[in-house]
Amino acid sequence: MTVSVSLGPRSYPIHIRSGLLHNLPELPAAALPGEIALVSNASVVPLYADALLQKLEARGQVVTTLSMGDGEEFKSLEIASRAYDELAEARFSRRGAVWAVGGGVTGDLAGFVAATWMRGVSFVQVPTTLLAMVDSSVGGKTGVNHPRAKNLIGAFWQPVAVLCDPDCLRTLPPRELRSGLAEVIKYGVIADAELFEFLERNLDAAMKLDGEVLSHIIARSCRIKADVVGEDERESDAIGRRAILNYGHTAGHAFEAVMQYGQLLHGEAISIGMTVAARLATALGTIENGAGNELMERQTRLFERAGLPTQTPEGADFEDLWAAMALDKKNRGAGVNFILPTRIGEVMRVENVSADSVREAIFSHR
Ligand SMILES: NC(=O)c1ccc[n+]([C@@H]2O[C@H](COP(=O)([O-])OP(=O)(O)OC[C@H]3O[C@@H](n4cnc5c(N)ncnc54)[C@H](O)[C@@H]3O)[C@@H](O)[C@H]2O)c1
Ligand SMILES: [Zn+2]
Repeated sequence: MTVSVSLGPRSYPIHIRSGLLHNLPELPAAALPGEIALVSNASVVPLYADALLQKLEARGQVVTTLSMGDGEEFKSLEIASRAYDELAEARFSRRGAVWAVGGGVTGDLAGFVAATWMRGVSFVQVPTTLLAMVDSSVGGKTGVNHPRAKNLIGAFWQPVAVLCDPDCLRTLPPRELRSGLAEVIKYGVIADAELFEFLERNLDAAMKLDGEVLSHIIARSCRIKADVVGEDERESDAIGRRAILNYGHTAGHAFEAVMQYGQLLHGEAISIGMTVAARLATALGTIENGAGNELMERQTRLFERAGLPTQTPEGADFEDLWAAMALDKKNRGAGVNFILPTRIGEVMRVENVSADSVREAIFSHR
């Protein structure tokens, strides 16, 4: 399966297939110049990057592997700087291509290095987590963290190709797989009722890593993200179409910020955030035909089947959560803006939701 991302001269294919990494598809010339830097991490190098290196070398490419530590803390300027040192050492030219092999951390850092090395070299994404396949490797956002905040430093830099092999998910820790499923469920709610229904029928097969089911949900998810990004490539406008991707993220990011680091994976925070948003939507009456409870129940059931949390974590303090939400750069005025569903497959943007409504949605359990 191939999903194309249409961005004029920056358009690119996303190839999705079980076994893809053993049998590479035809790639644009820019992906396969004479020299390639494979960026990966200590966990993923022995699993996938080594094998890919051998494949590329067998085709006559000169390949340098840059391996970073495993963890969000390595998505830093310091590690990018170390990568520049190694590229300089290898006399890596502006005709080379950087390949990212790993999760979103690797992809964001490698993409930033590709965007900045000699003012930009070709970039290829080989995402190996579900989150990276359906989210971070599509859309061209690259970057590193600053000690004061995540993703503060970065660039828009589109890959020339994305290679998704669902077989990679066999080695992924199950908790990471479930976390990625939260974003897939999000795509169903914001834009694709058929995908949501497909998940209702096939979630168990997806969790058992059925290649066809996974390929289908990855392709549908990438299609949605690609369409949204195609309409608003640089997120020029906070009220632009790209904002719908933030469903569940207003409260979700706040949970991530106030809980101790590592307590909640991103997808876990987002599933709690989507639950809060669905409760808010029911309370504010944005859901068509008074079907709030039904939407809420179907969404919660999918989260529960995926092993994702929906309850507000113990110890979360409302004042801290509210401060984190209000800090969000997209907010002006007294309230906070939310993306709320109108039905499964469609969302709307609601401005200035009051602290009282949000408190109620966070703490009123069913
Ligand atoms: N650029 C974007 O648009 C965008 C969007 C969403 C998230 N992100 C970023 O993505 C990052 C999170 O990405 P993530 O969830 O993929 O985390 P991650 O990259 O840390 O990967 C999760 C863990 O899985 C391991 N791993 C990766 N692939 C594996 C495999 N196939 N088998 C076994 N282990 C494997 C990694 O080494 C890591 O320990 C964050 O930094 C976030 O800011 C970026
Ligand atoms: Zn997300």
